Amino acid sequence: MTTIHSLSHVMLPSAHGPGAIPAVGFGTLIPDATVTRRATRAALDAGFRHFDCAERYGNEAAVGDAIREGIEAGTVRREDIFLTTKLWNTNHRPERVRPALEASCRRLAVETVDCYIIHTPFAFQPGEDPDPRDGEGRVLYDPGITLADTWRAMESLVDEGRCRSIGLSDITLAKLREIVAIARIKPAMVQVESHPYLQEWELLDFCRAHGIVLQAFAPLGHAMEPRVLEDTVLKDIAAGLGRTPAQVALAWAVQRGTAFLTTSTNPDHIRENFEISALPDDAMEEIRHGIGKDIRFNSVVETGVPGFIPRTEGRG
Ligand SMILES: NC(=O)c1ccc[n+]([C@@H]2O[C@H](COP(=O)([O-])OP(=O)(O)OC[C@H]3O[C@@H](n4cnc5c(N)ncnc54)[C@H](OP(=O)(O)O)[C@@H]3O)[C@@H](O)[C@H]2O)c1
Repeated sequence: MTTIHSLSHVMLPSAHGPGAIPAVGFGTLIPDATVTRRATRAALDAGFRHFDCAERYGNEAAVGDAIREGIEAGTVRREDIFLTTKLWNTNHRPERVRPALEASCRRLAVETVDCYIIHTPFAFQPGEDPDPRDGEGRVLYDPGITLADTWRAMESLVDEGRCRSIGLSDITLAKLREIVAIARIKPAMVQVESHPYLQEWELLDFCRAHGIVLQAFAPLGHAMEPRVLEDTVLKDIAAGLGRTPAQVALAWAVQRGTAFLTTSTNPDHIRENFEISALPDDAMEEIRHGIGKDIRFNSVVETGVPGFIPRTEGRG
């Protein structure tokens, strides 16, 4: 009889503050508030204990409502949840960092978050418009601020106990090296796009060597073309194991040592994405060496402009 080794509750060690982080995470980049609340509640009920939010998603209050409902229903306690939110590009100036976290905590209805992440390394012109542009539609960056300046303000939030740890997102390895070199408090987590078509081994090796958890967003390829879930290598492995291609892609993510954030508004997909178990070694190797594609779906890493958020949504 084959033993099925579940990966649903794997905890990843982070050397920089929060202790262990659940590898299996639910992302809340969902445009509609009601749908966000329902999906977050379904994810809690399915067993997810790691949630990723952002002020830029414009729906932190809906996530907070779902968590409160889950706590009131006795499904979960706040201390069982690993909750992350992110500082938006227009709030990189040090004096804007603490107010931005406080506003996120108010919307989420929590005292503190477990990780506070700089959403992208690009500072935009500070202000209320999350997508500041000039008359010709060009992004207005803020040349008066460096990522190191913002990082120091983030470190102060940990000193003050306002968040348990801090992290970065949409960052290149070169830029990550710079921050790790100057950081007094190192990033606990780095959130980047990663899936079988964008494997990021070099970044993962660097993170592992420095006690940082690499958190993969779009682990299913964000349902974009070419579709990761239609890949023949993944489909063949899934068919051989009696699982779905999504379960294979997510198991691969955890088994190679990353956390992941998947998102769904479909309760069946949400349950399916939590029920993941270990792959045989040859399947792990085949995904690593047999797919041979290198495709980035989200160009946010080059510009700071989020590829998956429509420009008219998520404001406020
Ligand atoms: N830091 C950043 O800049 C950044 C950028 C993007 C995303 N993120 C974070 O990462 C999270 C995840 O990103 P993502 O939405 O791209 O993740 P993803 O899980 O790769 O893609 C989600 C898409 O896959 C579909 N899907 C989910 N489970 C499925 C399954 N079992 N079978 C078939 N299709 C399935 C969903 O559709 P259904 O709803 O129909 O299931 C949805 O269209 C976001 O919510 C956000 O928290 C961060």
